[in-house]
Amino acid sequence: MLAMIYRGPYRVRTEQKPVPQIEHPNDAIVRVTRSAICGSDLHLYHGLVPDTRVGMTFGHEFTGVVEEIGSSVRNIKAGDQVLVPFNISCGSCMFCKKELYGNCHNTNPSATAIGGIFGYSHSAGGYDGGQAEYVRVPFADVGPWKIPEWMSLDDAVLLTDAYPTGYQAAEMGDIKENDTVVVFGAGPVGIFAAKSAWLMGAGRVIVIDHIDYRLEFIRNYANAEIYNFTQIGDVVLHIKKLTDGLGADVCIDAVGAEADGSFLHHLTGVKIPLQAGAPTALNWAIDSVRKGGTVSVVGVYGPTFNMVSIGNVLNKGLRINANQASVKRHLPRLIEHIKAGRISPKDIITHRIPLEEVSEGYHRFSSKLDNCIKTVMIPPKAA
Ligand SMILES: NC(=O)c1ccc[n+]([C@@H]2O[C@H](COP(=O)([O-])OP(=O)(O)OC[C@H]3O[C@@H](n4cnc5c(N)ncnc54)[C@H](O)[C@@H]3O)[C@@H](O)[C@H]2O)c1
Ligand SMILES: [Zn+2]
Ligand SMILES: [Zn+2]
Repeated sequence: MLAMIYRGPYRVRTEQKPVPQIEHPNDAIVRVTRSAICGSDLHLYHGLVPDTRVGMTFGHEFTGVVEEIGSSVRNIKAGDQVLVPFNISCGSCMFCKKELYGNCHNTNPSATAIGGIFGYSHSAGGYDGGQAEYVRVPFADVGPWKIPEWMSLDDAVLLTDAYPTGYQAAEMGDIKENDTVVVFGAGPVGIFAAKSAWLMGAGRVIVIDHIDYRLEFIRNYANAEIYNFTQIGDVVLHIKKLTDGLGADVCIDAVGAEADGSFLHHLTGVKIPLQAGAPTALNWAIDSVRKGGTVSVVGVYGPTFNMVSIGNVLNKGLRINANQASVKRHLPRLIEHIKAGRISPKDIITHRIPLEEVSEGYHRFSSKLDNCIKTVMIPPKAA
């Protein structure tokens, strides 16, 4: 089959690879119909995620048709159209029972924090992902969700990660009626966080980034106030000025480890790296939220340590809520939002390309070329 293959930092290609087989009675083999590239894939692409092995296939946002099921699978059958959450979860451990599907204790032997993730290096379990014609889906009774007949595949693929993650970012902000919410990052996750903030009662939504076409998009799509951080001087001071000197009620970090905006943090967090990513957006969030406010973190950081302004967290009495999204927990509600016409996730897709063009797809998204926001890849048999 054709599959995206990692050859080293900044080098990905489409190559032939054996079709995956059922390895456990609760596996399914899914023929992929759509797979998207996520901002998290860029951390892999840039060589920043430990134990990313040459030959691995990335891709944790995909839809497909069930091709084959293992002997114990009960909830799906061959021929079903499914969307597959990016978390691989067992469904029965202590954390899955609490619906913390992103923190499953049984699907990632190499970590005690995150659970398994499709196509996300051996530090997230070493599973091949869905940027391929076929993918093996473990715990097939837990993750895959049948796509409603009325739903487009483009909306469905955004339900596997970007939309639920943005939604959870807003949820973790614990937004109250009329709150001012600042979202750092106008990528897909920030876009859905901003959109969801309104649904949770925000009175004002402000978005900070430095890429103008993304800011323009989010202004229209999510009715947000936008600021380019390269043009406003001191970001924290600017946000204080916008909020009566007190700061925002809620700040959301939808940027993560590869943040721009600080030479020191970029050098020590990305280039050398002495800390687990540049915490620039996170520190801006901590410093521009009001006393007693909430900082919600979905931007991804590594597991060691960062130069985070913890003293400000303490002295301002902040709450920090952070996690990988637990996609499955949000699906019923988000499907309702799409059905009711409150949101159209597929509108953020700017590029639809054949799987064969994976190399160009990663380059374009990574370098933010051609007004790229979200790329969806279509394997040959799904076209
Ligand atoms: N927690 C989860 O479950 C989860 C799921 C998906 C993605 N993520 C993470 O969320 C983050 C965003 O994902 P995405 O797909 O939107 O990625 P993306 O790369 O498309 O978007 C990131 C945006 O942040 C902007 N940015 C850079 N530095 C900034 C700064 N200092 N302040 C404000 N904006 C800044 C960039 O210009 C870019 O537009 C990534 O770290 C990704 O790994 C987490
Ligand atoms: Zn992702
Ligand atoms: Zn579990």
